[in-house]
Amino acid sequence: MQSQSVVVVGLGYVGLPLAQLVQRKGYSVTGIDTDPAKIAAMDDLPVASSFESVKSAGIVIICVPTPVYADKLPNLEPVTGAATSVGKHLAKGTLVVLESTVNPGVTEAVVIPVLEEQSGLTAGQDFTVAHCPERINPGDAKWHVGTIPRVVGASTEAGLARAVEFYQSIIEADIYPMASLKEAEAVKIVENSFRDINIAFVNELAISFAKMDIDVVNVINGAATKPFAFMAHYPGIGVGGHCIPVDPYYLINRAKQNGFDHDFLQLARRINSHMPEYAVALTTDGLNELGLALNGAHIALLGLSYKPGVGDLREAPAFTLIDLLEKKGARITAYDPYIAKDAALSEYHEHARHHKHDGTLVGENGKARTGLHLAGSLTDALQGADVVIVATGHSEFLKLTPAQLQAHGVRFVLDGRNCLDKAKFIESKLLYRGLGR
Ligand SMILES: NC(=O)c1ccc[n+]([C@@H]2O[C@H](COP(=O)([O-])OP(=O)(O)OC[C@H]3O[C@@H](n4cnc5c(N)ncnc54)[C@H](O)[C@@H]3O)[C@@H](O)[C@H]2O)c1
Repeated sequence: MQSQSVVVVGLGYVGLPLAQLVQRKGYSVTGIDTDPAKIAAMDDLPVASSFESVKSAGIVIICVPTPVYADKLPNLEPVTGAATSVGKHLAKGTLVVLESTVNPGVTEAVVIPVLEEQSGLTAGQDFTVAHCPERINPGDAKWHVGTIPRVVGASTEAGLARAVEFYQSIIEADIYPMASLKEAEAVKIVENSFRDINIAFVNELAISFAKMDIDVVNVINGAATKPFAFMAHYPGIGVGGHCIPVDPYYLINRAKQNGFDHDFLQLARRINSHMPEYAVALTTDGLNELGLALNGAHIALLGLSYKPGVGDLREAPAFTLIDLLEKKGARITAYDPYIAKDAALSEYHEHARHHKHDGTLVGENGKARTGLHLAGSLTDALQGADVVIVATGHSEFLKLTPAQLQAHGVRFVLDGRNCLDKAKFIESKLLYRGLGR
């Protein structure tokens, strides 16, 4: 049984499983969140909206969001907000760990000064600060908060040793000490930028290979037989989630401040952000092939969340796609078994606000846009649809058959995640398009 008490600030995708793990490992834990709904929903963890418990905590772990503003500049408000509240109650001897993803330098240049100013204490002398970027992959049964190796950087040697010892006590994996806070921060940004770049590469291949009649998935699977120096990534109609389409901007902007342009990262962001537009072009071409137009077409959009098996809508490309299709006069009915209707509608409106769209909801055809219609079941979504677009590879959609779609009058399928049985669809009378296949 451990004696140290731990406070976890921010009880979202990262903070909640962490707090639960720390509690299971025998620590006394308090979770803090500014969202009253989060507090009300907890029944198995001591939680609070006040930061009082920081006063008596041995370790305080900050897991608040790090989004970007509409202009893609890093939004550090939640981090500075949390650091301000923690600083107000900080006692001597506390270890403060930032787990939120930040660009290199933020812990030293932003978090520590806020903690010092609010507490009147001195970092390195009265309290210590570490950065241990979270690597959680929501929906992954094998790699979770308790099994993923971690890197840690800290402001002092003693702080580093204490942070490493703490994480070793809760995680069944290696804890890798880094030489500095900055390097620990850079590790996380590099990991997610690596993924963004690799996805951009296969997205580009998908567009190129479609023109050569080469199936990009077959090629990637072929390349993946090489047992070293290749890692399979697959194309799709866009990258989503709180990390991959966001974190590269943190590095891009940080480097810009030093007079360096990350061309490669910016290109990757551009390619991946363009994928919903490519999906619209594929839809338009497919409909034209059938003598139909996108304007007035009824589209069943299957999947709203950014990845299979989870109900996370953050940065989900499906909403950009919906917006683009609607502007062209298409009528969209969306269905996602993981998303409640009110959550989908609120994201739809939030998306429109965030991207500064006209707000009048008039399409390019001059007609009022119909607005998103949400179906309560797969059958309802398919009813009367001319086109099906699979935007998320949820397991519920993988078994869709051509006959099932044809029975509802569907004539064209765009498999935006290459998750359907291509051979079956090619054999059928339905027009089928995948991403690069
Ligand atoms: N979601 C992921 O898969 C994932 C994976 C690895 C790393 N991360 C990183 O972890 C961090 C947290 O991400 P998340 O997905 O858990 O976010 P989240 O939005 O799911 O949760 C964050 C929580 O923090 C709370 N919060 C915001 N400001 C606060 C404040 N000032 N004080 C107290 N609570 C506050 C919010 O109400 C929310 O409940 C981000 O930096 C993210 O980049 C996320």
